[in-house]
Formats: sequence, C-alpha cells, structure tokens
Amino acid sequence: MKQLKFLAIAAGVMALVSCGQQPAPAQEPVEVDKAAVVIENIMTRVSVRQFTEEPVAKADLETILKAGLQAPSAMNAQDWQVRIVTNQEMLNTLSGFMLSTEMGKGMAERLNGKNAFANAPAVAFIAAETGEKATAYNREDTALLSENILLAAHALGLGATYQAAPARMINDSKEAKDFLKTTLGFPENADLINIIIIGHPAESPAVKDRDQSKGRIIE
Ligand SMILES: Cc1cc2nc3c(=O)[nH]c(=O)nc-3n(C[C@H](O)[C@H](O)[C@H](O)COP(=O)(O)O)c2cc1C
Repeated sequence: MKQLKFLAIAAGVMALVSCGQQPAPAQEPVEVDKAAVVIENIMTRVSVRQFTEEPVAKADLETILKAGLQAPSAMNAQDWQVRIVTNQEMLNTLSGFMLSTEMGKGMAERLNGKNAFANAPAVAFIAAETGEKATAYNREDTALLSENILLAAHALGLGATYQAAPARMINDSKEAKDFLKTTLGFPENADLINIIIIGHPAESPAVKDRDQSKGRIIE
C-alpha cells in the first residue's frame, strides 16, 4: 500500500531561534502515517444526536465550514449556501415554526423538551442554489459538502448528524422559510436540503456495520 508520510517539525526550535536563545537539542522527527489517520477518521465517524451544553469553539466552526466549502462540486459550480448557527434564540424560534408543521407535531413529543435540533450548540443549514450558475448536480454537491462537515467535526472530537427531516419541516413552514431568508440571509434561489447538528458528544454510539457485499472490486 502506498503510504503518504510526512515529518512533524519540532516547532519549538524555530521559536527559540527567533527569540535569540539557544535552540533546544534536535528532537527525533515524528513520522505520521497520514493515510491511516484519514482512513481511521472515516471509519470511526458515527451519527451523534445528544450533546452537552458546552459551546463549540468558533475556531472549530471556522475549520468545519472551510472543510465543507472545500468539497468538490460539478464544474466547480459551488452551487450551495451554508449557514452555521450558534445563536440559541434563533434556533428556538425556528424550532417553534418547525414543530407547528404536521410533521413537527408528530415529532414534538419525542423531543423530551428539547428543540427540533436536539438543543445542539451549533446547527449547519445546507442549501442547494438553483438558477443560472447552478448545475443539475447541485444536490450531489451539497451531499459532498455535508460529508466533509461530518468528517471535519469528527476529526475535531465533536459529534454531528446529517438530518434531512428537519429540512422538510422548514420547507413545510412559510414562517420558517422566511426566517431562513430574513434572519439567516439565505438568498431567494436556495433550496434547503439538510441540516447538520453539531456539538460535544453526550453519547458514544457504536459504529454501525456496513454490508460489505454491496461493493466489490472487479479485476
Ligand atoms: C440522506 C440522509 C438523511 C438523514 N436524515 C436523518 C434525519 O432526518 N434524522 C436523523 O436523526 N438522522 C438522519 N440521517 C442519519 C442516518 O440515520 C445515519 O447516517 C445512518 O443511520 C447511519 O448511521 P451513522 O451515521 O452513525 O453511520 C440521515 C442520513 C442521510 C444520509
């Protein structure tokens, strides 16, 4: 197997040199198996739906957003719109609209007093742009963006879940759809596809097995 490896540099050496001090004795370079780290992150990701109240650091959200926006898209159209919201007042207002829909009414009793986002400290709203600059693959593009967000959150020790049902509730509510435009600044030509709830995990679900017979290599 081709393995990508790189050397981790002892950052302290440079810092000391720039301060005019004697550099510390050279440390042994640490070899990191970059491929193994990336694959392990993919294989251990799991949907997390319960969170502690601890807010997610802004720097982590910035990393997560950047990772999402780095996803491939058909013809590099980047025909998506993303908002990551941490404002709990906004999320509660939106949740109120969602739980008033037919689908939401059925869901309300299963929430145990939490809002429609499981009281997640951060929620990503992901929309596919339509119109002239969008391609016919705008939904696929948002899916790839979403997976990047899930993997970045997991790599940062956070929990996250891709959710389509809350997007349906939002799309079923005029007030909720208006809220996305007026308060979250979604443009008119953006169709909400899914949300991703993000936070510090308050549960540790096991990784679910996958049916390996669904894929095969043909030589
Ligand atoms: C298109 C799609 C829609 C989903 N919608 C929801 C949802 O509405 N609510 C939810 O809790 N999870 C939702 N999920 C998460 C899946 O239930 C979850 O990914 C699946 O059970 C596999 O579990 P894992 O993510 O832990 O591997 C959705 C996932 C996908 C890909």
